Amino acid sequence: MPTAPSELAYIPFVSVENMMRLVHHFGIESVLLELTDAVENDYRRWELFEKSPRLASHSDQGVIELMPTSDGEAFSFKYVNGHPSNTAKGFQTVAAFGLLARVDTGYPLMLTEMTLLTALRTAATSAMAARHLAPANAEVMALIGNGAQAEFQALAMKAVIGIKEVRLFDIDPKATEKTARNLQNSGLRVVSCSNSQETIEGAQIVTTCTADKAYATILTDNMVGAGIHINAIGGDCPGKTELHKDILARADTSVEFEPQTRIEGEIQQMDATYPVTEFWKVLHGHAPGRSDARQITLFDSVGFAIEDFSALRYVFDKLKGTDFFQKIDILADPDDPRDLFGMLQRAA
Ligand SMILES: NC(=O)c1ccc[n+]([C@@H]2O[C@H](COP(=O)([O-])OP(=O)(O)OC[C@H]3O[C@@H](n4cnc5c(N)ncnc54)[C@H](O)[C@@H]3O)[C@@H](O)[C@H]2O)c1
Repeated sequence: MPTAPSELAYIPFVSVENMMRLVHHFGIESVLLELTDAVENDYRRWELFEKSPRLASHSDQGVIELMPTSDGEAFSFKYVNGHPSNTAKGFQTVAAFGLLARVDTGYPLMLTEMTLLTALRTAATSAMAARHLAPANAEVMALIGNGAQAEFQALAMKAVIGIKEVRLFDIDPKATEKTARNLQNSGLRVVSCSNSQETIEGAQIVTTCTADKAYATILTDNMVGAGIHINAIGGDCPGKTELHKDILARADTSVEFEPQTRIEGEIQQMDATYPVTEFWKVLHGHAPGRSDARQITLFDSVGFAIEDFSALRYVFDKLKGTDFFQKIDILADPDDPRDLFGMLQRAA
């Protein structure tokens, strides 16, 4: 009896090493551009998707989340954590992996690392929102919080929006030095700043991507002038926000999936009647994007399962004709589907 499984048992597994090779092979800016379009295309199909707030398991240190969705043909989920105190111990704040499956048989299609992929898809989602909400011809971006997500955010805004200057600030100067070093040959003008106020001077787009398990105030109301777009990605958990609530009172706020963002986003600080627009409605023309030059737009991003679905499908398509994966026999494959025990005996 054969001990090796048949082809049915195998799916591609994209390790961290292979994800790095894939991104360099296609080029990070072109991956970010294509991923932005992939996420936007799925947002345009919003009504087809199964949607629910993610399942979150909270602890004193952080959160572990499962993020599932399906468009009726494919199903995906991501496992992801958020532990702001991790970096002090040498661990990352955010680490993830995910799976894409077919709906008709329920069989998995691909398993992949998603720590890098989350940084890419979060940056792509930020760029998608900025494409419709930021002032036209935005050239200067402020980036507050210079950790793991930072360079991805800057490069997506460069590739998709055409940002020319990025202004950096982090409470830890070593993080800013790291980001400035990583971006030195990116073609962006990089300006390191010593506080948030200085960072946002002249910026049309302000991205906050800090990590602190607290109601933090990265931006106060007096710092925010008319006509800017705020891309807030670090407030993504109950009790974890970045903006003073007075800014929200002046801003036109877009969200991913309202029921999830009411629990996790900046808007957890506001009462349930605070008006928000689900971003897909902007794409469908059901709601205005930026309607005047003085408007303050806010994309209150927490990260939603459809963005991971888009990223998984994107990577799955990109694998074709490459060797950026290993095959793993993740599924038991009995010769007779009902003879699972008989299959076990292959290795007896
Ligand atoms: N919205 C989404 O889809 C999404 C996706 C991924 C990560 N996130 C969130 O984005 C945030 C950043 O993630 P990361 O992986 O880059 O984390 P990280 O820990 O690598 O970096 C966070 C940085 O923020 C800095 N910081 C903390 N408080 C600050 C303050 N008051 N002012 C300035 N800088 C400050 C830290 O020094 C650190 O360098 C996290 O909160 C994470 O949960 C959101």
